[in-house]
This record gives sequence, structure tokens and C-alpha cells, in this order.
Amino acid sequence: MISPVILCGGSGTRLWPLSRTQYPKQFLPLNGETTMLQDTVKRLGDVDSVSLICNEDHRFLAAEQMRQLGVQCSVFLEPVGRNTAPAVALAALHADANKLASGGEKQKSDANELESEILLVLAADHVIKDEEAFRRAIDKALPLAAQGKMVTFGIVPQHPETGYGYIKAEGADFQKGEEQEYYNVAAFVEKPDRVTAESYLAEGGYYWNSGMFMFRADRYLEELQKYRPDIIEACEKAMADTAKDMDFIRVNAEAFETCPDESIDYAVMEPLCAEGSLLAGGADSRGSSGSVVVIPLDVGWSDVGSWSALWEIKEKDANNNVLEGDVIIEDTMNSFVYGCDRLVTTLGVDDLVIVDTKDALLVARKDRVQDIKKIVSGIKNAA
Ligand code: GDD
Ligand code: MG
Repeated sequence: MISPVILCGGSGTRLWPLSRTQYPKQFLPLNGETTMLQDTVKRLGDVDSVSLICNEDHRFLAAEQMRQLGVQCSVFLEPVGRNTAPAVALAALHADANKLASGGEKQKSDANELESEILLVLAADHVIKDEEAFRRAIDKALPLAAQGKMVTFGIVPQHPETGYGYIKAEGADFQKGEEQEYYNVAAFVEKPDRVTAESYLAEGGYYWNSGMFMFRADRYLEELQKYRPDIIEACEKAMADTAKDMDFIRVNAEAFETCPDESIDYAVMEPLCAEGSLLAGGADSRGSSGSVVVIPLDVGWSDVGSWSALWEIKEKDANNNVLEGDVIIEDTMNSFVYGCDRLVTTLGVDDLVIVDTKDALLVARKDRVQDIKKIVSGIKNAA
């Protein structure tokens, strides 16, 4: 059985001023009626329960959004964000403790003989158009994860994006148009610079890391222990002293605050793939020795990380504009114009993002929206 674990503790700053510290993008209906978090759960099909990991400030948002879907949830509350490696560790430690508990009379030393839960780790900031194809990919991943493999899901890259991880699949050749069900992973490179990303596209055989993973809880903990015992140690302490409060599992704040801030990609996936390729005799050889695999995902995936990414996936008018709210435009092209409480008008502009909310207005060139985080940190510093 698969246990979905949804990471929803990100801050979504690049979608400011809609996405706010108290109301980050995953809790907003950015692409339709339901929120990004709700879409993440809905696309799984039939699920009874999910685990959510979020900041404690967002606990009621998270719980209420699951209640609206009629889905049971356990919500792990982080006092501070420490990125995704610790967040996944909390869920994995909890699952492993369950394994021991459900072992009944079995002794702790026999624990490895008991089945470890299979975690499906999902981000809460993705749009996926073909949900059936997505579920088929999940079904393909299950037996691989059960065998102990760390499963990643790869997207054929469209451009040399520097905000994603890159997965080198052994023997993949997109030119031939043939795809295997899965590949062993030869290398995993998180957020390379532009030149490196361009070289990967030219070389071929690389996928974007979709940011979703499937593995047994015990396998994740084993790898994390190997590469980042400091993270495991802090998370174990944080989980050893939790306070249960309705569906909320509040981890020990003092212990969790000492945890290093690191993503699963840097903490586990990169070193694991690098070590595998060394063991196997170099990057051209057997890569991660088969312990990490990638399943190609052709599902209309997109990470809604920025206004330009949102503009890409939304329906546009004849002049390539996305218009939302009370908006009147004239001679306006390739723009995203969002109005909230009052009328927003534009005349003779191209390639702009204009987002008007109750208390803040953003006007930016569409090719500069990655830098919105600079504005947000400027506001925080000024406060
Ligand atoms: N609980 C918790 N705590 N969740 C977090 C935290 C945290 O401290 N930080 C981020 N998250 C959540 C976010 O809300 C999001 O759902 C998910 O974890 C991924 O975090 P992002 O911050 O959005 O990661 P990214 O987009 O920069 O990079 C990841 O995703 C890319 C694809 O979207 C990496 O896995 C890349 O390799 C990948 O290409
Ligand atoms: Mg993201």
C-alpha cells in the first residue's frame, strides 16, 4: 500500500503578491476552483488518508482543505521550514515507528522483516494535465519501490531551466522516440547553472526531476543516515517528543530548529547517484547501480513556480494575454493581468505581469519574474 506524503511547507514567494507568508501558493486556487494542495490529493484518485507536512501557521488551512475533500489527514507541523530532506524524514520516521507498532509481538530486532511503508512523496505546487497517465506511472513505480529502489519521475526537458534537478537516465535516447518503462539513474544534478543545463540538453538522455519520489520509508532513512546523519539525528529527537493535537502532530520545536536546512535533492539524491556511479566504475558505467531509477512521465506536468510559469499554462486571449478579474486592455500582448477589487486597465504594453491585490500591486517584465523574491526579501528586511 502507498502512503502519500505531501510537502506543503514552501513559501511560494515568486508568486507574490498573491502568495503570502500567511497564505502561500499551495493553499490558493491558482489554476481552477480547487487549491493546488487539493488538486495534489484529488489527482491520486481513491485515497482515504494522506500525510501533510507544513508550517504550524498553516495547520488550519491544510486541515480545512482536506475536510472539504472528505480525506483523512495526519498533519505534521514544523515550527520552522528546514526544507524537504527533514520534512520527508519526519514522515519516514513516523512510518517506521508504525511498522514497529504494528509488529505486535515481534521484537524490535525483527523489525526489518516487517514491511516498511512505501511513501509517495509529492510537492503541492504542480499542475498535471493527464491524471490517468500520472496514476499509471504511480502503479509502475510501486513494485520498484517495494524492491527497495528509490524511484524518481522524469519529465522530458523543454528548455535549459536552472530551477530544476536533472536526472541522467542510462541508455535514454529521446531522438529515437523510444522510451523504456524505467531507467537506472546515472547522475542526479540539482539546479545546475545555465551553461551546464544547456550542455545536458545538447547531450540528451537527461530528464527534469519532477520533484516527486517513491521509496520505502526504511530505504530513505538508511540513505539519509549514510549521507546526512546530522539531519536524522535532529529529526529523531523532534519525533521522539511530539505533541498530538487532534489530527496535528507537533514535532519538538527545540530539536527541529537545530536541524540543518537541506533539500532531499542535495541531501540524498545527488550523493546517492554520485556514489553509485563511482562504485560502478564511473559515470559511463552502471550509474547508481540500479538503486535509483527514473520513470518517464508524460503527463502535461508543470511546476507553478512563477508568474511566467502560470501564464504558460493558462488559457489566453487572441493576443496571448491571460486576463483575470476586472480587467480592460487595449493594444496589450503576451501579458498576465490580474485584478482583484478594482478595475485594472492597460494600454500599449507587452510582456508584462500586473497583479493587483487589496494591499499590494506588482508590475514586472515577464522575463524578470524570477527576481520577485528580491522584492519580498526587501519587504521583510524593511519590516
Ligand atoms: N514541509 C515542508 N517544509 N515543505 C517544504 C519545505 C519545508 O521546509 N520547503 C519546500 N517545501 C515543499 C514546497 O511547498 C513544495 O511543495 C515542495 O516542497 C518542493 O519545494 P520547492 O521549494 O518548490 O522545490 P523546487 O521547486 O525549488 O525544487 C524541487 O522541485 C523541482 C520540480 O518542481 C526539486 O525537487 C527539483 O529537483 C525539481 O526539479
Ligand atoms: Mg517547486
